[in-house]
Amino acid sequence: MEETPSKDWKEKVQGDEAEKFERLAMVLAEAQKRKPGDKRRVLHAKGSCGLRGVFTIADYVPIYARVGIFARPGTYRAYVRLSNGSPTPQHDSKGDVRGLAVKLLGVSGQKLIPGMENATTQDFLFVRSRTIPFRDPEEFVWTAVAAQSPLTFLPKTFFRFGLRAIPFLRALRKSLSVPYESAATCSFHAILPVRFGDHAAKFSLFPESQAEEPTGIQGENTIREDAHKRLLNGTISYQVRAQFFVNEDKTPIERPDKEWKESDAPFVTLARLTLPTQDIESADGKRISEYVERLSFDPWHAPVEFRPLGAMMRARNVAYRVSTVARAALPEPSGTDWA
Ligand code: HEM
Repeated sequence: MEETPSKDWKEKVQGDEAEKFERLAMVLAEAQKRKPGDKRRVLHAKGSCGLRGVFTIADYVPIYARVGIFARPGTYRAYVRLSNGSPTPQHDSKGDVRGLAVKLLGVSGQKLIPGMENATTQDFLFVRSRTIPFRDPEEFVWTAVAAQSPLTFLPKTFFRFGLRAIPFLRALRKSLSVPYESAATCSFHAILPVRFGDHAAKFSLFPESQAEEPTGIQGENTIREDAHKRLLNGTISYQVRAQFFVNEDKTPIERPDKEWKESDAPFVTLARLTLPTQDIESADGKRISEYVERLSFDPWHAPVEFRPLGAMMRARNVAYRVSTVARAALPEPSGTDWA
């Protein structure tokens, strides 16, 4: 008999937050000082590669998780973008946030963003770490902006965080230096929760490929070169898993700096993400990569049953749109097949 997870999750919504989130999105966008016509993202500016993917729902999904795309077995084509989080592209050997974003095609059901209710995509955004050291969107945006001036970053952090500065800096360093040998052999985590029907959950990806010869990242574009080498004759795949909300103490909705421990909220496998064999340096591979670079991956590209939860997610609901409008991203793809 399956134990049904709790439905007792709650969000804390502050009355004045809409205005605050608008302001944060503008602060973030303006700090990047993008020139008109610059098509780079406000964050995760370096796209290592854009790939074709296939998302296959598991043959068995627990009854409580049979929601939306997970309601029945099926296969969705997808696009995947590997990125580095920094606002300015940098050498792959430098410590950075590592991103993996997925966009499923042909997803039915009403979507969340007003004006895009009939879109047929669902996105999942992951990074390499399981937590981030920020407690609210102000801390996230403040750090993203302050970190662009390395000389003043430390004194500013001590001034802003006071006694918390040391544990904060330690946690920040940890989240930027999570080992990254290859996208194929790393786990990735959404960090923030979403609704899952009446439940709440966090998604993660766990690699099915084993590390071959861990060499570390040395070159400027090692992440792309590694994906190219692996996908030329083989595939890369991940188990798509979710952790379900248990209670506010063990699995807080509003605390991205607190890990949901596996011992409290075990992972449930729901699907497999496969990157099929493809030549990313061929003319076709480059065309797909350039197309994916112009798409937008956004946690709010989702059916209503998977609404993002918490203040940090609601702040993203504004920030991603500001960034995608400024860089004139392509509209959501329609149809079920790759371009
Ligand atoms: C803590 C969880 C978060 C995760 C896992 C995450 C992950 C990602 C990833 C993977 C991308 C690259 C997407 C792509 O390849 O197109 C991205 C982009 C971005 N993120 Fe986040 N992010 C998080 C939080 C935030 C927050 C709190 C903000 C701001 C309030 C933010 C602002 C942005 C912006 C503006 C972009 C560029 C959007 C675009 O132009 O397409 N992120 N994020």
